[in-house]
Amino acid sequence: MVPFKIRNIEINPPMILSPMAGVTDYTFRRLIKRRGGVGLVVSEFISVEGLTRNNPKSKRQMRFDEAERPYAVQIFGGQPGRMAMGAEMAEEIGADILDVNCGCPAPKVVKNGGGSGLLRDLPRLETILKEIKKSISIPLTLKVRTGFTDATINVVEVAKMAEQCGVEHIQVHGRTRDQGYKGLANWDLIRQVKQAVSVPVSGNGDIVSIESGMQRWREAGTDGVLIGRGAMQNPWIFRQFADVLAGREPYQPDLEEKKSVLLEFFEMCLEEMPEIVALGKMKQLAGQFTKGLPGGAQFRQTLYHSHSVQEILGNITTYFGSISTGQMFGDGVVEAEADRDLEMTSCEAPVIPGIIRSAMRA
Ligand SMILES: Cc1cc2nc3c(=O)[nH]c(=O)nc-3n(C[C@H](O)[C@H](O)[C@H](O)COP(=O)(O)O)c2cc1C
Repeated sequence: MVPFKIRNIEINPPMILSPMAGVTDYTFRRLIKRRGGVGLVVSEFISVEGLTRNNPKSKRQMRFDEAERPYAVQIFGGQPGRMAMGAEMAEEIGADILDVNCGCPAPKVVKNGGGSGLLRDLPRLETILKEIKKSISIPLTLKVRTGFTDATINVVEVAKMAEQCGVEHIQVHGRTRDQGYKGLANWDLIRQVKQAVSVPVSGNGDIVSIESGMQRWREAGTDGVLIGRGAMQNPWIFRQFADVLAGREPYQPDLEEKKSVLLEFFEMCLEEMPEIVALGKMKQLAGQFTKGLPGGAQFRQTLYHSHSVQEILGNITTYFGSISTGQMFGDGVVEAEADRDLEMTSCEAPVIPGIIRSAMRA
């Protein structure tokens, strides 16, 4: 578990913030990067259909800050020509790495041949990778699922083919397309990929705690790991892994720091986006962030029903004030029921109670 290189780009520490549409935007990536321990950040997946047709949203999604480097842009699509053009645009804006999405399970992405749809059309995937290689000089990487269905697991074959096409880093989410986000990621298949190719391989799926994460990582023997949902629940998770890798005790933020990271995020959102979108983003992060905290379910319900900046700030202050003095926050809301709102199981922007979906997509 040492730093590794994607061509000449050092991934140090060898941990990656996994791309999440509707989540890992410019604001969230910087929030996580500032906590430390992240070796690589990746954009949300960006449609090449949008990019190559000058859709302003797609172009905006590529934006990054110098402090984020190394920075990868992830693109998705099913048309080789458009994928190559999209890749070229990512290189032009200064991305360090170009990543191809071969894992998104969303029907509208798969229907157009992109995302995990590429897992059942390897000739098309091969053409896409070769066309992209011809059009860019930055390293090309691939993020894949293990197969389309349980009966058609082909990730080892895909990885070998990708390596032949010049892909320089393979990231495996250990679930099939049909699995969606159900069940557990299969880290044994990730291990098999690592053994089958000589380019660096990173594993992904269900890393939410240091102990079990380290065990999976060790057993699979991968060069790196990607963490997605775990970073929303615990923005310090990368720093904690980095501590353990360096032989230190993992950093433990206190309640005051947890509160201030939420406020920092809110402030960053308000600088970047319209208030209604910032409120939605805040509810999204706070919802994940307070999982497992005392009274978290009640707090989330209160937050979901907050409609202004003042209300949100007031509720955050009350909540953290009450838990720091050992009181319960609110009453009467069953944790399991509220938790249904927390399912983050899509590569499309998740629906958050009380938020207009179109505003989230703005
Ligand atoms: C809300 C959400 C959005 C996602 N969007 C993307 C995406 O844009 N590109 C991608 O490659 N994977 C996407 N994923 C998958 C994650 O990158 C990751 O592979 C998956 O969540 C498993 O890792 P985890 O258990 O650490 O979250 C998304 C996942 C979630 C929950």
